[in-house]
Amino acid sequence: MTDDDPGTVRDADATGDPDTAVRRDRFSGGPAREFLSSLAADEAIFAADLAVDRAHTVMLAEQGIVDDAVAGEILVALDDVESAGHDELTAGEDVHEAIETAVIDRIGPDGGRMHTARSRNDEVATCIRYRLREDLLAVAEATLTLREALVEVASEHTEAVMPGYTHLQPAQPTTVAHYLLSYEGGIARDTARLLDAYERVNRSPLGAAAFAGTPFDIDRDRTAELLGFDGTVRNSMDASSARDFLAEGSTACATLATALSGLAEDCIVFSNKGFIELSDAYSSTSSIMPQKKNPDTLELTRGVAGDAIGEATGTLSLLKGLPRAYNRDLQRAHAGVFEIADDVREATEIAAGAVATAEWNGATLADAAGDGFSTATGVADLLAMGGLPFRTAHEIVAAAAETVSDDDTPAAAAAKVDEATRKVTDEPLSTHVSREDVEAALDPAASVASRDSAGGPAPEAVADELATAEADIEADAETLAARRESLAAAAERLDAEVASYV
Ligand code: ARG
Repeated sequence: MTDDDPGTVRDADATGDPDTAVRRDRFSGGPAREFLSSLAADEAIFAADLAVDRAHTVMLAEQGIVDDAVAGEILVALDDVESAGHDELTAGEDVHEAIETAVIDRIGPDGGRMHTARSRNDEVATCIRYRLREDLLAVAEATLTLREALVEVASEHTEAVMPGYTHLQPAQPTTVAHYLLSYEGGIARDTARLLDAYERVNRSPLGAAAFAGTPFDIDRDRTAELLGFDGTVRNSMDASSARDFLAEGSTACATLATALSGLAEDCIVFSNKGFIELSDAYSSTSSIMPQKKNPDTLELTRGVAGDAIGEATGTLSLLKGLPRAYNRDLQRAHAGVFEIADDVREATEIAAGAVATAEWNGATLADAAGDGFSTATGVADLLAMGGLPFRTAHEIVAAAAETVSDDDTPAAAAAKVDEATRKVTDEPLSTHVSREDVEAALDPAASVASRDSAGGPAPEAVADELATAEADIEADAETLAARRESLAAAAERLDAEVASYV
């Protein structure tokens, strides 16, 4: 049977070719059989399809569309199909047909009543959403693990001064805590994007049938409730054809993976500079060079972003220009998103483990923190605070920067700033600020401590950020737990309903 021609279910074929149980001979095979089939990839939605079949069957019985006794037989057969497992499914273009065939094989033609008032179009759309919502929660949970690790390590390093970079050049000193919290802030938005995508994924298209609804007196809200959806995708044409939620889910994963790739890249560079020592558990070695300790886990994490971006791009490319309502292209739209969600989840957990176990080398970081006259901005700020226009202060320090070297003592560097001030303004430095204040501003730790604006690196400012981050993580963890509880409660309700028929 095709969904364009719902027809009636035929008797299972006596020859034992199970394909004919649900499909007419004309469409039962041929050279394109393999090409048409998504059965292998559909393993990802095997459990989802069973749940969808159960909820739909329960609803059909409740609405008096299928007898309770037949519903019971179907539900028992579904249990048996589940126990046999996906690998035992042989016949059918996809898991939906294959499960229906397996049910018909077990109980005869009445098994085909399961497909009353639905199509594979709404069925597959429901299965994808059912599966993807769990994946999104799993990725969101991994982001919480990573954020916890970032906050934990940050809280131990609020005073640990390190160089901050722009254009890969030393720019201004900051702290390890401030650096790590910059990623916590980014990953927090990834959690939000994933949870937000979940809201739109978790809507039921079931009951849309092929796209044009059904004359049967179905209850779409009931199947939605039994499956743990927070409502339906109402318009039946939208419901069966929409896959924007796949684009949203894959983009949320790709955006997270992109953030992870930046964190991974930084840590690869930091371990190269001796700023951090990765734990052996997150490193690998060379098969030929015995001395090597390589940051392979971080490199793989960085690499996952490429695949994730590819998945998001591929999804949008596949969807672009598709006419309403259903087109078979859609069969290729979803398999990749489950895989990429899993890869991104794993990469997020690995990043969390690598961050949690890496050692930050405080002495090396402190040494490097002042390199490249990284306190120059602080000195310019000091001159501006002393009354000079910031642009003039900038000019003075830029002139000094031509001669200041990493080997200069604070006194020597301050003398150079004095010289530059005289050159630019014809006045000595002391007209504006004291030499001691300039020397202090040249100290990376003092420079960091002075930048106490909201969200800045000064330890007090970071203490506020830490508290906010901890509260945000807790709130997101509660949201996540509530989603999980709601899904678990729905699964229990469905089990109880099924039990009342079998
Ligand atoms: N396996 C198909 C998919 O994933 C099911 C829908 C087939 N529908 C159709 N009208 N041919 O999209």
